[in-house]
Amino acid sequence: MKKIKLFKPYVSWRAIWNVVKVLRSGQLAEGPQVAAFEKEFGEMFGLSDVITLNSGTAALELAYELAGITVGDEVISPVLTMPATNIPLVRRGAKIIFADTEDDLNISIADVEQKITPNTKAVVFVHFNGNNRGLNELVALCAKKNIILIEDAAQAVGSDNWGKGDFVCVSFQAIKTFTTGDGGALICKNKELTPKARRLRWFGFDRQRRQTADITEAGYKYHMNDIAAAIGRGNLRSVQKVIAHRKSLVEEFNKHGIPAHIWRAFILTDQREELQKKLKDNGIDAEAYDNRNDIYSLFGGRQSFPNMDRLEKRYLLLPLHMGVSLDDVRRMSKIIKEFYAI
Ligand SMILES: Cc1ncc(COP(=O)(O)O)c(C=O)c1O
Repeated sequence: MKKIKLFKPYVSWRAIWNVVKVLRSGQLAEGPQVAAFEKEFGEMFGLSDVITLNSGTAALELAYELAGITVGDEVISPVLTMPATNIPLVRRGAKIIFADTEDDLNISIADVEQKITPNTKAVVFVHFNGNNRGLNELVALCAKKNIILIEDAAQAVGSDNWGKGDFVCVSFQAIKTFTTGDGGALICKNKELTPKARRLRWFGFDRQRRQTADITEAGYKYHMNDIAAAIGRGNLRSVQKVIAHRKSLVEEFNKHGIPAHIWRAFILTDQREELQKKLKDNGIDAEAYDNRNDIYSLFGGRQSFPNMDRLEKRYLLLPLHMGVSLDDVRRMSKIIKEFYAI
């Protein structure tokens, strides 16, 4: 029986070869590979001034800082997301206003709308599972209300609609559609912020003028290194093949009535544990990752959200990656149908 893990990193041969070359080159730290990767990634996805970083979390930290989010500012953010979206907001002393989710597990725009106040500084949109539903509406809403839109695009690479927020935060972490091992990127809509973002990612230095430059801002050590960039450059060569495969899996899942987006598929079920066991018995790793964030004490304790309360014990994530074939999707669907005796 074929065993299918929930996640499987994809690393191309070109990426492996690139890493070997970099490891032997004598230049491992940020250098020509990073510069080339920023250009090539931007060209591939139609993004300008890509600022690579060492994680998606670093991208969020920088975005929140550049957005000027500070103590007491209200930031509306999805209650259902990987907690990396919200943890940096706590560190900044922001007041997180959680927004409810919809049945597709993305943020509820109606709930965002009713939670906007004169103190709302920013809204965070997360492409949960790679789902872009709601992005266009939030772009329009935030523009109308003069609110900053932070786009957590950690799970979005390969989707047909991403990269529209005032700040776009990408993750290249190991299990993402496109990986550099670990890594991330920030794209600022206001290009005047790009030089500052580049300084902040490296202590506050202007890297081009290290010998002479003053440090006037307390920066971080968030830059990408040439090893990660070399993986990225290699993986970029096959990213369209990866995206095409993932899209074919999405289509197949959808054909069987199972919601799926570019990064993950999921099913809503009232018998989560039993269905999970059934899938596991058949070699398929299905999990209920990414808890509603208000269960963590860091965020101040549990709140009440009509949809999240109804959905929290129902969603089960299903594998969707390069190790999954169309036949595997058919097999998963058959197991689920048999489970429900459909
Ligand atoms: C929605 C979301 N935001 C942020 C992150 C953080 O990205 P990274 O692991 O690259 O720091 C992740 C990573 O899984 C994520 O899924």
